[in-house]
Amino acid sequence: MSVIKFLDLGSQPIANGFLNKENFDKEFFFNLSVGLDDETGLVTQMEYVSPDIMFNDSYAYRGSLSKTMRDHFAEAKKRISAYLPENPKVLEIGSNDGVFVKNWNPATTFAVEPCENFAKETISLGYDTYSSFWSVELAENIKNTNGLMDLIFAANCMCHIPDLDGTFKAVESLLSDEGLFVFEDPSLIEMLSRNSYDQIYDEHAHIFSVTAVNKILNRNGLKVVNVEPISVHGGSNRIWAMKMSSQSKFLFDLEHFLTFESLVGVDDLNILSSFAERVEGSKIALINLLQKLQDDGNKVISYGATSKSTTIFNYCGIDSSLIEYITDTTPEKQGLYSPGTHIPILKAPSQIEQDVDVAFLGAWNFEKEIRNKENLFVERGGKFITHVPEVTLR
Ligand code: TYD
Repeated sequence: MSVIKFLDLGSQPIANGFLNKENFDKEFFFNLSVGLDDETGLVTQMEYVSPDIMFNDSYAYRGSLSKTMRDHFAEAKKRISAYLPENPKVLEIGSNDGVFVKNWNPATTFAVEPCENFAKETISLGYDTYSSFWSVELAENIKNTNGLMDLIFAANCMCHIPDLDGTFKAVESLLSDEGLFVFEDPSLIEMLSRNSYDQIYDEHAHIFSVTAVNKILNRNGLKVVNVEPISVHGGSNRIWAMKMSSQSKFLFDLEHFLTFESLVGVDDLNILSSFAERVEGSKIALINLLQKLQDDGNKVISYGATSKSTTIFNYCGIDSSLIEYITDTTPEKQGLYSPGTHIPILKAPSQIEQDVDVAFLGAWNFEKEIRNKENLFVERGGKFITHVPEVTLR
């Protein structure tokens, strides 16, 4: 197996590593490059950042803060429940602040969350929570204590884990014979079509195509039974998998889906290299636009201190000379500075401040929710910048 590099996003810090001034000179940087695994077709980072540097008790991303995500997981529960027995045993890997597990019965629902700050929250809600990284040993331990699971769920977590073989093996060992393994992560096709290169940051060790995931699941005793494209996180796939031996039937044509991905070229180096060229173009267009806005006397801020914007700001070299500050609703991020380019992060006011002319959408995936909320800004002629699928002021 070898991984062939097609994209270099330069020196990058920890995407969620929001920091205070005292820590500027101790910041950790690594080279963020992406390649194609010639065996599985997996799009993956050339070098993985050690998980304990990223996921620890000061991890700042909080799923429950957005209505979009709360609604999304409530809906996911309804959708998946239809395929489960009565009183199912459910386990979530990477339960964050409980935004998904909160929808399930605490007596039969288990959570795995290595970031202790969040594990404490689900424990206090009555969910048995294992504050550890997912592993074959942990799965064994959970099986011995609680038996097999009818549903193993993970959202924006599987693509975070460098060792997918070990991860899927552990899932297979804890799943009941007809149990479901449902996981959702950003989709490679969506990233290619939207030019959303900011899906790539330290935590996203891989950007999944179904083609690659299917091969890796298969060699670990699991098979894809359904795929649902979903809109969250800038375009994701919800992949449903079961044990190879499962008898359940889904009305889903995997071969058709794989043919579609093959036509798009998800594992074609030429296609991936042309994506890399578009990324370079996006960088130039964004810097030019921000420079022009500044030359014309506009006050520009950024909306949402996202992991995604860490990639953009560091790749494009955007600091507080071009974007005055970032607003965010997450208490853990407020008062700190953005990783790498050190733009101050302020508490999001109830409406964008009066003197702001333009807001860069760091959280472009919530554009609809944000536009609804910021109706006064829009009415007085305020504009947003988005870079997907191309750099636009609107
Ligand atoms: P998300 O796009 O999920 O981020 P990531 O790229 O890190 O996965 O997170 C959205 C961020 O934007 C989160 O920090 C909360 C913030 N946010 C606001 O400040 N205001 C808003 O109206 C919304 C929807 C999000």
